[in-house]
Amino acid sequence: MTQIDHPIRIAPSLLNCDWGRLAEQIQLVEAAGADLLHLDVMDGHFVPNISFGVPLVAAMRKCTRLMLDTHLMISEPVRYAPAFVEAGADSITFHIETTTEPLAAVREIRKLGVRVGVSLNPGTPAEAIDAVIQHVDLVLVMTVWPGFGGQSYIAECTEKIEVISSLLKPHQWLEVDGGIGIDTIGRAVAAGADTLVAGSAIFGNPDPAAALRELRDAAMAAVRGVNHS
Ligand code: DX5
Ligand code: ZN
Repeated sequence: MTQIDHPIRIAPSLLNCDWGRLAEQIQLVEAAGADLLHLDVMDGHFVPNISFGVPLVAAMRKCTRLMLDTHLMISEPVRYAPAFVEAGADSITFHIETTTEPLAAVREIRKLGVRVGVSLNPGTPAEAIDAVIQHVDLVLVMTVWPGFGGQSYIAECTEKIEVISSLLKPHQWLEVDGGIGIDTIGRAVAAGADTLVAGSAIFGNPDPAAALRELRDAAMAAVRGVNHS
């Protein structure tokens, strides 16, 4: 990594927010400077947890103008993508592990007029996305095994962030998801991440707005560290 001159984006994950005050929680992080909202959709099949679906996305759409960055941890992403886009999703990320036809999946989702992302589990090598890496708007590198918030960052994934960062073009985002907090955001940014998902580090904090700001400060400190090293 030579210089970091791209913006750093913070994407609060709503998985562990206070669902009873969803609108308030969204407005709180939006006011605190969230760059986009990360929506963790889980089907209990691709991942061992069920979170929420289309109706909640439609409800969130009414609460904010922020980009709804929709992380589909589901087995049939292309089948359900249209319904999520109809509900207001601005970006659809599918898992490379869910399909043997990733380029067809990218094309189908692209036809919906939204941004397209591809995600890799911690055990999936960077090469797994070779067929689509030039065709997506973002790559989402999982630094936890998907399914739950509050897990610890898997340090072995940092090298994959570096590898993928070296392959992306300036317009493509490198999003990192899982275990991002004050102690881990710096290494993800230094490895090349420009979009950082944080769930429990924000909503698990009694002051989510302050937590978000502190995360951004830590990310910018890492940028300065890289640029002055
Ligand atoms: C995990 C989700 C992540 C998770 C992030 O399956 O994809 O977005 O909610 O939560 P934290 O930041 O608590 O690891
Ligand atoms: Zn996610």
